[in-house]
Amino acid sequence: MPNVEVAPGPKLNVLLRPSSLARKQTHRYLCELERKYGAVSRIKFGPFNVIYLCHPDYIEYMFLHRDKYVKVKEGGILGHLLGNGLLTSEGDFWLKQRRLIQPVFHKQRLHTFVQKITESTDEMLMAWAQQTGETMDVYHEMNKLTLDVVGKTLFSTNVKEEFEKVNKALTHIMTAIRKRSRMMRFPLWVPLPSHLSIQHNRNILDETIRGIITQRRNEQGTFDDLLTMLMEVEDADTTERMTDQQLRDEVLTLFVAGHETTANSLTFTLYLLAKNPAVKKRLQQEISEVIPTGEITFEALQKLTYTNWVIKESMRLYPPAWMIPREATQEDVVGGYRVKKGDKVLASPYAMHHSERYWDRPEEFIPERFTAENMKDRPRYSYFPFGGGARLCVGNNFALMEMQIVLAMLISRFDFYLPDNFEMELTPLITLRPKNGLPMKVANREGL
Ligand code: HEM
Repeated sequence: MPNVEVAPGPKLNVLLRPSSLARKQTHRYLCELERKYGAVSRIKFGPFNVIYLCHPDYIEYMFLHRDKYVKVKEGGILGHLLGNGLLTSEGDFWLKQRRLIQPVFHKQRLHTFVQKITESTDEMLMAWAQQTGETMDVYHEMNKLTLDVVGKTLFSTNVKEEFEKVNKALTHIMTAIRKRSRMMRFPLWVPLPSHLSIQHNRNILDETIRGIITQRRNEQGTFDDLLTMLMEVEDADTTERMTDQQLRDEVLTLFVAGHETTANSLTFTLYLLAKNPAVKKRLQQEISEVIPTGEITFEALQKLTYTNWVIKESMRLYPPAWMIPREATQEDVVGGYRVKKGDKVLASPYAMHHSERYWDRPEEFIPERFTAENMKDRPRYSYFPFGGGARLCVGNNFALMEMQIVLAMLISRFDFYLPDNFEMELTPLITLRPKNGLPMKVANREGL
């Protein structure tokens, strides 16, 4: 394609930039590029060209052309960690697994999870009641809770005891992925100390998952959950069942994809509420009107309209999946600019959600942006915290419901406050995380 222009962008390779914004606060750097270059730009990143899309139509194009823009394979630790699970697999194999797993998350089935999510949340809040007036790390608490929820709802298993071990291993691997993307990489089989420690942490996760699968094989009784479905399903052509390796990949994928993102989002929401007392008050009001007894039902959740806006607005300001990369399988032209085979192609929910081109006062926390009226003319891909196209997050409705339940229960029982002058800093790992957790004091609201 000799006549197609190359997209504009910074001249210097990001890996050679002394600026810490590009390397350490990449989410903010992407906003800067969006402001400067607009719809399409090109970033030189080590040996790669990254075509960075900042227009809703082009982002949609990337999502809808799944054959041209595939998941990035090269050297990824995420692929190394999750193998051929739903998040990282491709092609016909991915489609087969998606068709198998998706029904578990259908709206009609979601109500079956309400009770288990409520029980896990209740356990956490009972423990909080003993700590009222103390400062606790709410981020840590949310991670523990969401891991427990995935374990109980999808696999009928209790992973609470193993939380500290699993959480530490995952954090280690996520940090390693981020560090690796900023430097020269050796293949993972080269026995560098950093690679050995990735392997060590991967083994910890493997052991936990294998433990869950073995326990289920040895258990009597019937379980109506995703684990049973995955273990019993037979391939339509070969009638073979899933191998242990494939089972391990799917189970680990759902633990990894399904808990930390939700924990981050809940943490960001609580932070925003603590910073915006008027919103918190209105939320408390809605929750006490819709759920006066504190008893959560699936039907009541459908009436929590303002709660829903609050969650959506929190995911606008702090989308846990802050960037979504793909790799081009062939030559293409997007927005009039050239995409070469092998180029990385990037969309960033964080940058699009903070863009002044698409949002009025983008840095402010305004849940009313999400009224049906205000959303009516909004371009679809100016807001995409769960991605898009066929690879849209399979757990999106599950996550939204879980967040509603946790918020509703927490807010009807507790008030919460930040330490004086606390400002949250962000770390963009694979997910966007609060850098130093979220210290908060909780106070019992009983009798209010
Ligand atoms: C606030 C919470 C969540 C956020 C922000 C989130 C975000 C995302 C995004 C952006 C993608 C698309 C990635 C891409 O296109 O490359 C994705 C995919 C996925 N998510 Fe979520 N997610 C959340 C919760 C969950 C939950 C609760 C589960 C499961 C229990 C889950 C399981 C998955 C899986 C398996 C995929 C891969 C789907 C596929 O490629 O077919 N996620 N998620």
